[in-house]
Amino acid sequence: MGNEESTLVDESTLPSVLEARNINAVAKYIKDYNVRNVVLMVGAGISTSAGIPDFRSPDTGLYANLAFLDLEEPEDVFDIGFFKENPKPFYALARELYPGRYRPTIAHSFVKLLDNKGMLLKHFTQNIDCLERQAGVPGDKIIEAHGSFATQRCIECKVPFPDDNMHTHVEKGEVPRCLEKDCDGLVKPDIVFFGEALPASFHQNRELPAEADLCIVMGTSLTVQPFASLPSMCMNGTPRVLINMDRVGGMGSRQDDVLVLGDIDAGVRKFARALGWEEELEALWEETNPNPKDREAELASPQTRDERLQDEVDRLAAEVDRTLGVSDAYQQRVREKLGEPSASSGDSSTSSANSANSANSADDGLSHVFPHLAHKPY
Ligand code: OAD
Repeated sequence: MGNEESTLVDESTLPSVLEARNINAVAKYIKDYNVRNVVLMVGAGISTSAGIPDFRSPDTGLYANLAFLDLEEPEDVFDIGFFKENPKPFYALARELYPGRYRPTIAHSFVKLLDNKGMLLKHFTQNIDCLERQAGVPGDKIIEAHGSFATQRCIECKVPFPDDNMHTHVEKGEVPRCLEKDCDGLVKPDIVFFGEALPASFHQNRELPAEADLCIVMGTSLTVQPFASLPSMCMNGTPRVLINMDRVGGMGSRQDDVLVLGDIDAGVRKFARALGWEEELEALWEETNPNPKDREAELASPQTRDERLQDEVDRLAAEVDRTLGVSDAYQQRVREKLGEPSASSGDSSTSSANSANSANSADDGLSHVFPHLAHKPY
């Protein structure tokens, strides 16, 4: 799949508002109609180029990789019933996903640019990484539909838990417990788990898309309700743009839908170029760079974005393995199943850094560290 805009499945259907079903026509619409009320709906895909895996991508998604741990279902990590019984897998992951480790992507800066231009009505995100805030999007424009790591509380008595104490626990990969006398309940960040209600701010704003004059959906599989139904709240005749690897959630079915399929960063840059905003966008994104030399190094690096992401996924998987104490015996069992020689458990941290390259090699595979990756069809 490339980064071309695909036309719709039914090519005979003409747009009603746009002049054509492509991103240039959307850019023209924005200018001709003086668009001021853009609504965005985003998911994990806008953060993958920052190095944070999404959930459902077949090889690099979190669920595919956690499937090799001792969880019955990888989604259990975010299931409130499971958390009450065993909070450790979540805290193993929380340590890695905790805000502050990652830089916003160009897609986050694109949202900030829309806001700078006075065009952002609301940004609905399913992400818990807080990268839109880090990119400078004002808090009152963001609906964190699945919560965030910003606050936490006891799941029993609901009393908030101090930030610094939480930070210490997460850093150590330890499970925090309520400090209230005689409570000792489990503490959980205010992230919405499966089986929990979405925040009031979501419900208060879920009909806002009806007021939008443009809707942009990026980086989500639109599989989790009620978020997944947000794009359908837009009025017929309101152009909707999907920037994503895959076509999802019925996007493309309306007359004024435009699909920009492929890599999100490339799609966003294409959109910015059509609007004449490319340089402005790059400059804004550069402001999020804590170390401008990193950019030069990144450009000079022969490693592709996918390789960097795979490295990050490997590192996360290794870290979760380590924190959960997945035993050498378990790894040995998998190795035996794969008919591969055993290796010392001390290799895991060093090998993960080179895992993407190793994964491509039949000789040096990953069996000595991550047996589960060794049988992937690279
Ligand atoms: P998913 O992992 O389900 O979907 C991510 C989408 O982004 C997929 O369609 C990918 O193909 C696409 N994608 C990823 N990286 C991309 C890239 N660089 N370029 C183009 N497309 C890319 O993530 P979400 O839809 O956010 O809930 O998942 C929704 C919810 O499910 C999450 O909020 C989480 C999860 O369970 C909770 O934790 C409660």
